[in-house]
Amino acid sequence: MNPMMKVSGLTKRFGGVKVFENLSFELNKNEILGVIGPNGAGKTTLINVLCGASPPNAGQIWLEDKQVTGKLLHEMSKLGVLRSFQQANTFGAQTVRENLLYALTFSGQDLNPDQTALDLLEQFDLLSRLDEQSNKLPYGLQKVLGMMMTFLTRPRVLLLDEPAAGLEVSERPRIDAFIAAAQKAYSTSVLIVEHDMALIRRLCSRIIVLDAGQLLAIGAPEEVLSRKDVLDAYIGETEDA
Ligand SMILES: Nc1ncnc2c1ncn2[C@@H]1O[C@H](COP(=O)(O)OP(=O)(O)O)[C@@H](O)[C@H]1O
Ligand SMILES: [Mg+2]
Repeated sequence: MNPMMKVSGLTKRFGGVKVFENLSFELNKNEILGVIGPNGAGKTTLINVLCGASPPNAGQIWLEDKQVTGKLLHEMSKLGVLRSFQQANTFGAQTVRENLLYALTFSGQDLNPDQTALDLLEQFDLLSRLDEQSNKLPYGLQKVLGMMMTFLTRPRVLLLDEPAAGLEVSERPRIDAFIAAAQKAYSTSVLIVEHDMALIRRLCSRIIVLDAGQLLAIGAPEEVLSRKDVLDAYIGETEDA
């Protein structure tokens, strides 16, 4: 299988402090790959390194057959590698429509959303709310809007850092349903960091487990999440930490 992104021997330190060491794994095309691990395991730092926000100390990053190690944030975003943040990422005082237009303008596209986007907006209750101020939407819908804006820029690789953070458990299935639908519609390769194991199980066909900067396990969720060493890594953690 042709990976969309591949890392080999990836190592990151801050001064003398090692965050992770010698990570090697692949993100396949059209895959949603989960990244889990206890607090401080290095998950957010991994996303920062993959999107060019923070350079690795050793190792290589490949985007398809192109070496992209050491490229900067704006270069990676031009190559189609984008990250999203924990918060909703919308312009709160603006309407849903203005937010969507901003995303289209930013990515230099035609200002009419395509049918794919319209279908997603309708399916996820945003099409009827185009003229509402985005920060007045229920928080779960603000998150969907923020993610819709990212998908509108048609990334090849999308790196999601805890997209369900701050949401009630009852609001979460909508987030992963949206990610699954948008990933499929736009054929994006997605790497997702998330604490909610139920969400990870619903969404991911493969996961990797980081623990103290090492790649502890990689494989199907049901297999990996039943391993004793993986469960031990989580002792003392709650799923909502
Ligand atoms: N900019 C930084 N400078 C120094 N240490 C950092 C920095 N960013 C993260 N770290 C350290 O790297 C480790 C991993 O952090 P992080 O990637 O945020 O973990 P996670 O997202 O898995 O909770 C932590 O020990 C954290 O203190
Ligand atoms: Mg984090």
